[in-house]
Amino acid sequence: MRISASLLFVVIAAALVLTVQPSRAQDVALTPPMGWNSWNYFADKVNDQAVRTAADAMVASGMKDAGYVYVNIDDTWEGQRDAGGLLHSNSKFPDMKALADYVHSKGLKIGIYSSPGPKTCAGYEGSLGHEEQDAQLYASWGIDYLKYDLCSFIPEVMEKQAPNDKAVQMRLMHAAYAKMAKALKSTGRPIVYSLCQYGWDAVWEWAPSVGGNLWRTTDDIGPNVQSIYTNMSMQAGLAAYAGPGHWNDPDMLEVGNGKLTLAENRSHFSMWAMLAAPLLAGNDLPHMTPEIRDILINRDVIAIDQDTLGKQGSRAYVEGEVEVWTRPLAGGALAVAVLNTGDNRYSTHPFHLLLSRMGLHGPLKAKDLWGGKEMELSESMPLELPVHDVLLVRIAAPK
Ligand code: GLA
Repeated sequence: MRISASLLFVVIAAALVLTVQPSRAQDVALTPPMGWNSWNYFADKVNDQAVRTAADAMVASGMKDAGYVYVNIDDTWEGQRDAGGLLHSNSKFPDMKALADYVHSKGLKIGIYSSPGPKTCAGYEGSLGHEEQDAQLYASWGIDYLKYDLCSFIPEVMEKQAPNDKAVQMRLMHAAYAKMAKALKSTGRPIVYSLCQYGWDAVWEWAPSVGGNLWRTTDDIGPNVQSIYTNMSMQAGLAAYAGPGHWNDPDMLEVGNGKLTLAENRSHFSMWAMLAAPLLAGNDLPHMTPEIRDILINRDVIAIDQDTLGKQGSRAYVEGEVEVWTRPLAGGALAVAVLNTGDNRYSTHPFHLLLSRMGLHGPLKAKDLWGGKEMELSESMPLELPVHDVLLVRIAAPK
């Protein structure tokens, strides 16, 4: 009798553990997602071949070894729904399952894109009314990541269903994101869930509760410093909302795009690492220069981004056009970034780094993560940074 009672107890306990155990989907994005996304370079020109060559280049360039994982197809892959509502990819993507298999065969993961509205931002088929069907479709293809972009949900649902009632509109938006999260979860496949609604309604406050692993906090980035600085500045004050499994997303990288100088590419990458931002390269990987590749695979900088403590950096102080940001790291270490946003080397000359304004006392041993050398930081140390360049250091034992 006693044996069967304890057996019963064990069975019930095991059943309980199995039912309440979080699905694996909740364990994704424990550090900010790293990978590539098609939009910033290819926009609507993306096709199957471009995605395959991006995956090949991610391996050949050393990016995969440096931690990049996701190969993400953005907008314009969608075709039409058939009579049963099943969505098909368009002629640029003849066989999505075969493409996913190819990306997986490289040891990488694959992402896709949709909208809670009837149409995507580029006017392709969205998921409205087909959320579960689409989530199942993604899972059947082997998709590992979904970017879900608000777009036509604004005019077609929010504004139509609740004209002039912002509060109801926001509730509709929350519900739409929660609905897809549920649909993704019910597939049983771990799928990173990326919210893209440009930061509306302080998304950082509610995105984790609707299952978001990351959420855009800004409008679209462009390959110029004004856009990069704007998106960066908008992260100030948001550090408390980021952590393992849930990240602020100041948008994808423009490293290697447009006419950004090497200093600008370096500082963009550095600041995204300080912000614990997703590192989704957005350039033409097979044709990038060695200098751009070296920026993207700088392991010391990637280690800042991927630090296991998962604490986003904050702006410590600004003096003239120089910004100083700090980021606490695992094991009590600290990253410090000093960024010259000025257009003139001498615009704030002479700039002195004030350790006391970061609560630190010099002298401090630090590693310069772009120079690769050890250096010493002293109180009120003069620094001359070239236009739009950055000093990024790691202090192992700050005091
Ligand atoms: C929006 C998003 C971009 C991109 C495009 C695609 O603008 O913010 O990141 O996905 O849509 O149409």
